[in-house]
Order: sequence, then C-alpha cells, then structure tokens
Amino acid sequence: MPNPSILILAGDGIGPEVMAEVSKIIDWFGAKRGVSFDVSEDLVGGCAYDRHGVPLHDDTMAKAQAVDAVLLGAVGGPKYDNLDFSVKPERGLLRLRKEMDLFANLRPAQCFDALADFSSLKKEVVAGLDIMIVRELTSGIYFGEPRGIFTEGNERVGINTQRYTESEIDRVARAAFELARKRSGRVCSMEKANVMESGVLWREVVQKVHDADYPDIALSHMYADNGAMQLVRNPKQFDVIVTDNLFGDILSDAAAMLTGSLGMLPSASLGAPMANGRPKALYEPVHGSAPDIAGQGKANPIATILSFAMALRYSFDMGEDAARVEQAVETVLANGLRTADLLGPEGGTPVSTAQMGDAIVAALDASL
Ligand code: IPM
Ligand code: MG
Repeated sequence: MPNPSILILAGDGIGPEVMAEVSKIIDWFGAKRGVSFDVSEDLVGGCAYDRHGVPLHDDTMAKAQAVDAVLLGAVGGPKYDNLDFSVKPERGLLRLRKEMDLFANLRPAQCFDALADFSSLKKEVVAGLDIMIVRELTSGIYFGEPRGIFTEGNERVGINTQRYTESEIDRVARAAFELARKRSGRVCSMEKANVMESGVLWREVVQKVHDADYPDIALSHMYADNGAMQLVRNPKQFDVIVTDNLFGDILSDAAAMLTGSLGMLPSASLGAPMANGRPKALYEPVHGSAPDIAGQGKANPIATILSFAMALRYSFDMGEDAARVEQAVETVLANGLRTADLLGPEGGTPVSTAQMGDAIVAALDASL
C-alpha cells in the first residue's frame, strides 16, 4: 500500500499559521505511530491570485483530484475585496468543492466541557452539546443558473437561482441517514417548503429515501427559520440536521457559536468513493482567514487540528487515532491552556498558536 497522500492548501490570513500546527501532528504520526503521509503543498485563494492571477490554478485543481485528502486553511482578506467576482479568493474554494463534487459537508458542533461557560447561551443549554449539520455543498443557490446582475428597463437586477435535482437531494439525504445510524438515529431535515418549490421537492425526496431505505431512523422536518430559532432555544433536541447549501451555511454558523468559539470547529466535505474506496475529501476549519489577527501568533489552531482528526476518521479509517487527537485537545483545554479567542471575561494569559500546537503534540505523546 502506498502512503496516504495529503495536499495542504494553507491559503490566506491565519491559514498558514494554523496549518503549521497540523504539520506537527502529521509529523508526530510518522514518528510515533508509523503512519507516514505523503504531503504536498500548494496555493489557494488570495495567495494563488497574487501568484497566478486566479484563486486556484488548474495544476492545483488536478493535484487536489489526485490525492486522498485535501487540507485547507482559509481563504480571503480585505486586499481582495474589490476583485472581480470571478477571481475572488472564495471562488478557489468553491471550485474545489464543485469539481471534486464534495456534496456532503459535515459540520459538527460540539461543546467541550472546559468551554461550556463561553457560549453566549446558558451553560445548561449547551453543556454536552453534540450535533452534526450535514450541509449540501455543490448545488442550490450557490451554483444555480441563471445568475448575474442584468439590466431590466432602466435599472439593474441581481439574480441567483435556487435549484435542486432529485438525485442531489437523494445523495445528501443518504449521507445524513448513514451518519445518524452511527449516532443517535435521529435526523431533522430543514428547508422552506412553505414558500419554495425547491423546499417542497427537498422534503418529498428526503421522506422517500427515508421510507425506502432508512425506516429505522427517526426523521423530522422543520422550516429553516424555525430551525434557527430552535437551535438557539434548545439545541440539544437535535442530533443530525440535513439542509441545503445556503441554509446550511447560515445554520452552521449559528450552531458554531453555541459552542463558544468558532476557533474550535472542524468540517469535512465528502464526495463519492474513489477507485481506492476512499471518498473524495476536503477538510477545513469552519472559521475564516481572520485577517485582523493574521501573522501575530494569536490564532487558535484547534479547528484545523480537529479537521485533520476528521480526515483520519473519514478518509483513512483511523477512528481510534482520530479519537486520540480529539482527546489530546480536550486534555490541553482541561489543563487550562487558552489561545486569545478562548479567554473569558475573567481574562488570563493566552498561549500562542505554536504553544497550543506543541501542547497538543505533548498530550499525544502522553497518550502512548
Ligand atoms: C463557509 C464559508 C464559505 C461559504 C465562503 C468562504 C465561500 O462561509 O464555508 O461556510 O459561503 O460556503
Ligand atoms: Mg459560512
């Protein structure tokens, strides 16, 4: 068996800093667990635009298609705000998602015990929270045609199109039901079937897939606006939530904040199995490039490290090692280590990005 291969696209802003800490963990696996990854690196986002005039070069796209897993840091920054839409840093990320056909975006929102006080909600509402949002990632209003800014009479009109085919809904519903089987067996599907035809079809197809192949799963449906309200009212009522691209973007940010810090949340974007049986996959933190703190050693590397843990679990079938990394993160948090974003109102001294990474490596060592 060849070594598993990883393409690192650190991107912009804090991306390179947090990814440097993941590299330490990858090296640790080579040195201490006898699992060596073939790691290559390339550019995405603003840094790719600076170099090539496009946010994702064709060669980089080809490399991403060829590896077992892509690890991405973050893209974007104020420097690129006024670029034409077609070459904005975000387009690089969207091209990866679309061309790799990464239709199932897994966004866990888990509240670490040591951080339950950090949530803007009451501790008892979020303590022990562990939900999984499955966001459709390759269709819907992000990609639907027609789109653009057109002229109608004497004014302009901005148009985007929400569009879902039955097969697109079918496959992401299956991904959610499969996950729910490994969790508590509950799925809540969210759309706006009260106002959108695409929502009516979404609800119908999810129900049909359920009735045909997943009758053991408890399925419920909710309008997405009510879902947003329920997420902040009583988030623990949910286990797996499945929803479309745009609602998933919004609901996952809300769910993220329930846990206290955006700096903690990983994600996996998965597609169909490749010839070697592994799914096409890209792993990235939910947070963005945070240009305001970039280059200062303040960023929290945990979301990116936990994204690598998801790679171990979903791409490399190394669930025990994934749990080992997650446990190491819990250990350093329980020991009181905090990056600046994790300091509460009572303050304290933050550790740097690198110190946090080193502490997690030390906790991994101690786990052997
Ligand atoms: C996300 C981000 C992206 C999205 C941006 C950066 C294109 O908000 O991954 O949630 O809207 O999907
Ligand atoms: Mg988002």
